[in-house]
Amino acid sequence: MKCRVCRGPAVIDLPRHNANFCTEHFVKFCHDQVIRAIKDYRMLEPGDRVLMAVSGGKDSLAAWSILRELGYDVDGLYIGLGIEGYSDVSRVFVDEFATARGLKLRVIDLPSEHGFDVPTAAAAVRKVPCAACGTSKRHLFDEAARDGRYDAVATGHNLDDEAAVLFGNVLHWDVDYLARQRPVLEAVDGFPRKVKPLVRLTEREMAAYCVVTGIDYQVDECPMSVGNRHLGYKDALNAIEQRSPGSKAAFYVGFQSRIAPLVQEAAAADRPEMVPCSNCAAPTTAPVDPGAGFPICGFCRMADKARDHVPVSVRPTRKRH
Ligand code: AMP
Ligand code: FES
Ligand code: ZN
Ligand code: ZN
Repeated sequence: MKCRVCRGPAVIDLPRHNANFCTEHFVKFCHDQVIRAIKDYRMLEPGDRVLMAVSGGKDSLAAWSILRELGYDVDGLYIGLGIEGYSDVSRVFVDEFATARGLKLRVIDLPSEHGFDVPTAAAAVRKVPCAACGTSKRHLFDEAARDGRYDAVATGHNLDDEAAVLFGNVLHWDVDYLARQRPVLEAVDGFPRKVKPLVRLTEREMAAYCVVTGIDYQVDECPMSVGNRHLGYKDALNAIEQRSPGSKAAFYVGFQSRIAPLVQEAAAADRPEMVPCSNCAAPTTAPVDPGAGFPICGFCRMADKARDHVPVSVRPTRKRH
């Protein structure tokens, strides 16, 4: 197996690109894919201050590393979700990554700073843990970006993640979600710009990137995401990809170029009005809370219920959602 560029020994084969690469040219390939995603979707401008949300997993640590290599000014943001046996481990990987490279990392710990954890919040609002987790992360990412005056929040969602979510949204013809499924969401109504610089790279490519560049990451998945239906969509897409390499990227990229502009127009027409949350001032579409008499955002409502709830320990869920 020889590198497509230099004919030296290759370390990875990429059937969807009909290519093999040596370490040096694979790293360059990954950088080029990120450069292209940033340019095609106008994610970042030179000089932008970026807040990289890092979980301790391969994707977000690789994204932090690549954005820095490309010259962006990027600080990290880690949220401690209070998931026993998982959050503490993920934090070590993030801390070590940042310390070894002298990078600035902001840590927000849900239990000690907000008085609740994800398993308890999920039980309190009777939702699956991933929903409570998503509400918390989105809220804290936005708040940290506003507080730190960052130009954009970046996440490590890769092509597999995005194609799987797209697949689910298409299966259910969920037009509202389809309209929001963009690799870049512009800053609007007090929300920061959100970017996903890894949308042209796969899970396997990101794992390989970490191995060849010496990034240590948390391999274990969150114990509460077992049974997440997106895992099934990923399997289905991988089966298709194996038969015809390139299908996954064609599905995702084709949606972005041909369909997204159409659904976006429809959704923009009925954008709900935002009001500030009376508790935290975050923009929200929540109506006036009957108990409180003023609008309270989803995060603050969930936090209130979670703080009143008896603590719940981690129980992997098999429920579909
Ligand atoms: P997930 O929702 O776990 O698939 O993660 C998607 C992206 O969200 C990751 O690539 C990270 O950029 C970000 N993320 C997930 N968990 C955390 C966390 N605990 N702290 C900060 N960012 C996170
Ligand atoms: Fe959010 Fe597992 S990381 S529920
Ligand atoms: Zn080479
Ligand atoms: Zn609030």
